[in-house]
Amino acid sequence: MSTGKPLPHDSAPLHVTGQARYVDDLPTPRNTLHLCFGLSSIARGRITTMDLAAVRTAPGVVTVLTADDLPFANDVSPSIHDEPLLSDGSVHYVGQPLFLVVAHSHLDARRAARAARIEYAEETPILTVEDALAAKSYFEGGPVTWARGDVDAALASASHSVEGRVEMGGQEHFYLEGQAALALPGEDGDMVVHSSTQHPTEIQHKVAEALGVSMHNVRVETRRMGGGFGGKESQGNALAVACAVAARATGRACKMRYDRDDDMMITGKRHDFRIEYRAGFDDTGRLTGVEFRHYTRAGWAQDLTLPVADRAMLHADNAYFLPAARIESHRLRTNTQSATAFRGFGGPQGMVGIERVMDHIAHVLGRDPLSVRQVNYYDAARPTGPGTGRRFSADHSPSPAKARSATPYGMEVTDFILHEMTEALASRADYAARRQAVADWNAANETIKRGIALTPVKFGISFTLTHLNQAGALVHVYQDGSIHLNHGGTEMGQGLNQKVAQVAAHAFGVNLDTVRITATDTQKVPNTSATAASSGSDLNGMAVQNACEKIKARIAEHLAATHQATPESVRFTQGRVHVGQADMSFAEAAQSAYFGRVSLSATGFYKTPDITWDRARGQGRPFFYFAHGAAVTEVAVDTLTGENRILRTDILHDAGASLNPALDIGQIEGGYVQGAGWLTMEELVWDDAGRLRTHAPSTYKIPATSDTPPVFNVELWDQPNPAATIYRSKAVGEPPFMLGISALMALSDAVAACGPAYPALDAPATPERLLAAIERVRR
Ligand code: MTE
Ligand code: MOS
Repeated sequence: MSTGKPLPHDSAPLHVTGQARYVDDLPTPRNTLHLCFGLSSIARGRITTMDLAAVRTAPGVVTVLTADDLPFANDVSPSIHDEPLLSDGSVHYVGQPLFLVVAHSHLDARRAARAARIEYAEETPILTVEDALAAKSYFEGGPVTWARGDVDAALASASHSVEGRVEMGGQEHFYLEGQAALALPGEDGDMVVHSSTQHPTEIQHKVAEALGVSMHNVRVETRRMGGGFGGKESQGNALAVACAVAARATGRACKMRYDRDDDMMITGKRHDFRIEYRAGFDDTGRLTGVEFRHYTRAGWAQDLTLPVADRAMLHADNAYFLPAARIESHRLRTNTQSATAFRGFGGPQGMVGIERVMDHIAHVLGRDPLSVRQVNYYDAARPTGPGTGRRFSADHSPSPAKARSATPYGMEVTDFILHEMTEALASRADYAARRQAVADWNAANETIKRGIALTPVKFGISFTLTHLNQAGALVHVYQDGSIHLNHGGTEMGQGLNQKVAQVAAHAFGVNLDTVRITATDTQKVPNTSATAASSGSDLNGMAVQNACEKIKARIAEHLAATHQATPESVRFTQGRVHVGQADMSFAEAAQSAYFGRVSLSATGFYKTPDITWDRARGQGRPFFYFAHGAAVTEVAVDTLTGENRILRTDILHDAGASLNPALDIGQIEGGYVQGAGWLTMEELVWDDAGRLRTHAPSTYKIPATSDTPPVFNVELWDQPNPAATIYRSKAVGEPPFMLGISALMALSDAVAACGPAYPALDAPATPERLLAAIERVRR
């Protein structure tokens, strides 16, 4: 039994000994050239003069390319062809690539890129939400609204109401390995590209477009990324296309990596959001209706903004039943980096909105925010069958009249387990006693205030673009019984390869070391989706299992015929194959099948069942299932300086029947810290000219090891997924990120101890923002 084991990451020894290869570590052919973009220094306008003479004559420079030198598509957009690789003359943000230097070394290319003399006709940039609203600068022409029920009536008749606004910043991905690509020109128009990407097929597609060739001419290989976090779903396109174009132009291998400052200046980040809300509720805090207005600065190009903003709307409910709701979403085009995917993909932003509402309601009523959250929870999953207390109905029929299970987008929540999980976590974390201890502490201490919060997560699993919910795999069994497999997913540290290898080992009943997975390769598995939406193991695990079952069936049929048995009676277990009275090693079985001229290679395929989504109406069943989690965070705030720290965190997270508890706990710990970092310390600052001032670790602070909670208890809610996923596991990549919201709410709780008014704390809750909030509550 290989699934369910807490095995370490398959590359862990390579990671820790420095032997794991990333794109920049690959041995390159002699005479490989190195690339660097020349960047725009203004946020908006037109180029009037681009004098590259000094760039061309700079030491080490081989050639310099501009938009005019691109023979085919000048576009690296993953969506609507609105993102030129090199400026077409118009400039949309500070950091936009204008020209491409090809030189003998990375440093030569970088130095030369700075020698350009560029003049612009500047225009006033659109930088803020206000600027964009005034200019009606929207993607898709205007806001998108989804509604359910009569919100105005619900608000008008509610016995209580709150109204407010919460701002949350964006977030730099800060993958440890920056963006990188290497292109190797081949014969007859072929091109091989090594890319640090979550989406090899997209790289293949964009490279083919840029070279004017078919996708079959381009092979993309991704061994691993040193982190992606969504920042390598689309943002690697520019480097890969630049390398391919330059490799075609020079006939030589071309490599490009952004240094950290360039990476931060050029690439998109998490979408920052402003959320305005109005909510009506009763004496217990139970919502009667709620209205949200989302405003997000999406940057200059569309990229993945529409599905990100949609997912924010789809998580405006988080774990709560909204009897009436209206969600209005403003996707604003601004002269900044094009905001992109980032762990949670808009979900975190949507959730912060409703968690703020819960916190605000509790403050108004003087109740424990946890009780307000619980009273608003969706109905518990309906158990089915006798003695199956832990299994839930996967029946999606509309809820009975009084049920509180319909989402604002019309999907029934049938697998909601947060009631039990919350109870269990509150008891394991000793929530009630610690809330009292926090109150006692705050009564006795003037300077240091403490706060505590328990927040839940319910996150929808599936791509909302339905056709992306498919995956392929390729499995070979060699005649010595060793197994090689490929799937369409990419490894970015999350442990996908290990989980998928466990699935294959389990299917064949062999030891894990019999199974080998190497680089993701578009020539082995075609037409893949990005490894994203946390669905890597759900999709690829199933596709691999499908391929394994095909080969197993062929081996079983062969052995049955040679051993006077039925194929159904053949058993694969513990590295052995049993057929009739005979028993042999898996290797012997493979060899026998080989001599019997049986194909030992198969492709596998999977598509997620049961999902439908009508984006225009905002109605359907966009998710195959929900993943849940809950976290309790306790913090301390120095009210004189605003400095703060997390004292303790307790998490209970639902990974279904975990494929690998060690990897899942790692995802939960990392996700929580990254989420808490987003909301408490990571701050992106643009100046009035649209220049990002926080473009290096000196000015942009991510959580360090020392910022992880000193007491950090993470446990899995290890129950099978009612939905038929791979071995009943659940996706775990993104959902724990949103457990970090408990840190923001705990800080809000600490500030609330300073005075009577509601803190209305914005994120990131830096010491400055905390001090301002403390001032506000005291007034
Ligand atoms: N974990 C590590 N270590 N590095 C990463 O880049 N990306 C996250 C998450 N966990 C990431 C990670 C994001 S944004 C997603 S969508 C999922 O992993 C993708 O992988 P999965 O679908 O296999 O969970
Ligand atoms: Mo993750 S944001 O879906 O790459």
